[in-house]
Amino acid sequence: MQRLFFSLKFSHAQQQQLLPYQQQALAICPDAKAVASGNLHLTLFFLGQTDSEQQQRLISAAGRIKLAQFSITLDTLSCFNKPKILYLAPSQLPDALLQLQQQVSECCLAEGFSDIHDKYRPHITLARQARYSWKFKQRVAPLMLDVSEFALYLSDNINGKVRYSPLHIYRLGLV
Ligand code: 2AM
Repeated sequence: MQRLFFSLKFSHAQQQQLLPYQQQALAICPDAKAVASGNLHLTLFFLGQTDSEQQQRLISAAGRIKLAQFSITLDTLSCFNKPKILYLAPSQLPDALLQLQQQVSECCLAEGFSDIHDKYRPHITLARQARYSWKFKQRVAPLMLDVSEFALYLSDNINGKVRYSPLHIYRLGLV
């Protein structure tokens, strides 16, 4: 069994563009633990423990998704109290993101997985274990990212460090 999730896939250059926002988040909450830059992602559907047969079926089902590339503008720094994370999010959700999330969810639900979240809240986790006792939402300089790929990711632990690795990458179509 492996711990898997579907997510937007950002390039190395895009992950680097997220680092100043991570610095802003850490300035608000210096005790929080920064997410490694190579792990920065935006979850579409969290699957959890998945066996190899389910994995193969999910890989082919998601391969039938035919959607176009889109862009997303991230402009809000905020936090969840449970889990205690600091994140960057869009204030306007692109329809194309919601459409992609819906189609990925349909593949996962058809395979018997359930959505553990009450509502889809797209976000990029910048830091974890944030010890704060207040809720904040701050507008930041907008960052527009072009989204051309999503992926099925493996979450594992290498020498005590969490690592997210794409197992299968899907390219979105040219607009
Ligand atoms: P993330 O912050 O690293 O993307 C399981 O709950 C995982 O799903 C969490 O570790 C979190 O991963 C992501 N998640 C939590 N709440 C969510 C929500 N409302 N919508 C989408 N993803 C969420």
